[in-house]
Amino acid sequence: MTSISAYIQNHKDRFIEELINLLKIPSISADSAYKNDVLKTAEAVKSSLTKAGCDKVEICETKGYPIVYGEKIVDKSLPTVLVYGHYDVQPPDPLELWTSPPFEPVIKATKLHPDGAIFARGACDDKGQMYMHVKALEYMTKENQLPCNVKFMIEGEEEVGSENLAEFVAKNKEKLTNDIILISDTGMIAKDVPSITTGLRGLSYVEVEVTGPNRDLHSGLYGGAVANPINVLAKMIASLHDENNHITIPGFYDKVEELSKEERAEMAKAPFSLEDYKSALDIDAVYGEKGYTTNERNSIRPTLDVNGIWGGYIGEGAKTVIASKAYAKISMRLVPHQDWKEITQLFKTHFESIAPAGVKVKVTPHHGGQGYVTPIDTIGYKAASKAYEQTFGKTPIPQRSGGSIPIVSLFEKELGSKTILMGFGLDSDAIHSPNEHFGVWNYLKGIETIPWFYKYFTEMSV
Ligand code: BES
Ligand code: MN
Ligand code: MN
Repeated sequence: MTSISAYIQNHKDRFIEELINLLKIPSISADSAYKNDVLKTAEAVKSSLTKAGCDKVEICETKGYPIVYGEKIVDKSLPTVLVYGHYDVQPPDPLELWTSPPFEPVIKATKLHPDGAIFARGACDDKGQMYMHVKALEYMTKENQLPCNVKFMIEGEEEVGSENLAEFVAKNKEKLTNDIILISDTGMIAKDVPSITTGLRGLSYVEVEVTGPNRDLHSGLYGGAVANPINVLAKMIASLHDENNHITIPGFYDKVEELSKEERAEMAKAPFSLEDYKSALDIDAVYGEKGYTTNERNSIRPTLDVNGIWGGYIGEGAKTVIASKAYAKISMRLVPHQDWKEITQLFKTHFESIAPAGVKVKVTPHHGGQGYVTPIDTIGYKAASKAYEQTFGKTPIPQRSGGSIPIVSLFEKELGSKTILMGFGLDSDAIHSPNEHFGVWNYLKGIETIPWFYKYFTEMSV
């Protein structure tokens, strides 16, 4: 029998090459121009699962992009691990800020990844992290080390809200029955500080449109006499936070879970350097809700952020004009107990109510989802913790993340199972940004750690 570390040593060049080939396909779910590439990626994932030893692999059609489902059932009386991941990626723009093209992966060394990182859109989020599971399965099947049943569900619409996955899950509860869900689509604190993600924030995403006059106007002839939608929108948005950076929407905090002093003290034990944080982002100060630390602001507290704002003239030179319309895309990150549909409604009612006379406001909800917090006294968490101890030589720290994977709370609701979030990315890996990358060390460490989870989870379950 070959150990997982020996297996990785023998096959790592191929593991890297296979991931690079997957990263070459631009599976941008948000942009319909890439439809064929998204579908091609689903096929590539399907064939990789077959090669890795799944007995049954299928492409499940949905109203949107398909879900790749695969399974290897060794014995129905043994536990079943359901692996979830996504093969779609975020759009790569702005392209000019990439140092190498987003779909021509290259390995480059960085300060945090001295032995190289793969630079490409999706390298970390989530193709690289999803593919760790495919390679871990390859090891377990080829070396006769798979201790339990495994199911894979890899979707192509995570980055656009997983709307069709929700329906798929609701309709396929039987097929998807499992004892634990395993996901690598988050991060860890640092390469020498392993951590397991125990929380995700919920999300409400809306688009707003402010309309003033029925046409664009000369800003000299009309300026000062009619409401300028861009001025008004800026003012409305500014009013959504008070001087302490609290969100001003009535009722917004009503259901927010307040952590106890003890829980906050526990959180504060995680290693964190404010100086490093600031210098990595080249900022001279952090900014946020009064009364909370940086790590609290980005995990246990809800937020409201403008993600994009546009309107009027943005071409070369100056054009004197009052635009008829102004727009913004706004996201609210939510914490446990805040219901995303309720928050969306509170936002809409409030935003419409603060519009001054002279403009019309339209609020269009996009997607959203509930937050998630997982306990650490479960077999799943303990098995994951032991797996990290095995490969990192350290006990991982439980940590709540600020990001969202809305489908996770739905899994619990529909399938009744908990999710273990074993992420191997770093915050500095630039997911959703130009120059996204994933450390080769992290990639291989993930592949090494996953089979241990299967082993401990099975041992602890039976
Ligand atoms: N993998 C990320 C979420 C993530 C990253 C969670 C790092 C924790 C740590 C996921 O692909 C993502 O980008 N989610 C979106 C929400 C989705 C509905 C578009 C997000 O968090 O913005
Ligand atoms: Mn992701
Ligand atoms: Mn993402």
